[in-house]
Amino acid sequence: MNYDVILPAAGSGKRMGAGKNKLFLELKGKPILIHTLEVFERDNWCRGIYLAVKDSERDFIQSLLVQYNITKVRAMPTGGDERQHSVQSCMKAIGSGEIVLVHDAARPFIVEPTIHELAEAAYEKGAAIVGVRAKDTMKRVEEGIIQETVDRSTLWMIQTPQAFRFELLQQAENHAERDNFLGTDESMLVEREGESVYMVESSYENVKITTKEDLVFGEAILNQRIGG
Ligand code: C5P
Repeated sequence: MNYDVILPAAGSGKRMGAGKNKLFLELKGKPILIHTLEVFERDNWCRGIYLAVKDSERDFIQSLLVQYNITKVRAMPTGGDERQHSVQSCMKAIGSGEIVLVHDAARPFIVEPTIHELAEAAYEKGAAIVGVRAKDTMKRVEEGIIQETVDRSTLWMIQTPQAFRFELLQQAENHAERDNFLGTDESMLVEREGESVYMVESSYENVKITTKEDLVFGEAILNQRIGG
């Protein structure tokens, strides 16, 4: 089984407040971006990595790839203003394929068994995404007032990777562009096509590094993995 992976890495990371791309911040002395890239560099199922980057960061990222011996990056197209546009520019760079994964470059703790389960699900069913069950009581709130308590048993918190047959994601992106529809993940675009998207259960460790607190959590995960 083979797949190509798209890593959107062209965000600004404003919520981190680091004054630079959060993907360059280090965990255990290595940039977050490299931690994520190494997962796919090691995975034999991964044919190629497509990285959406900012033009101003391309040279620096290129130097990191050399420094850390990342060899599977096939293209680094310019990202867009929105994540969806960054993913789209990578789809154009890939051109055609069978299974494509989209994974936030800011989620370095994804593990290979989950990636494989996901890729197989997409191969069999067309579209699959990873996530975890909601742990807390969930309420819908408007203007600071509870509107309702939502039945938690059906709620999942969605992560990446998300995996699709290449042509299905391509079609969903084309239609989203035509309709000026902006989704917060790729699954939303495929859901609009009326296609079933299947859930693969992942781990609470697969966090997206977004704020400074996540860095502390991330270091703890790595310490535990090294220790174990
Ligand atoms: O900002 P957020 O954490 O939601 O971004 C998720 C991922 O998408 C990050 O890896 C970020 O670099 C990427 N991104 C992008 N292009 C954008 C916005 C975000 O590639 N315009």
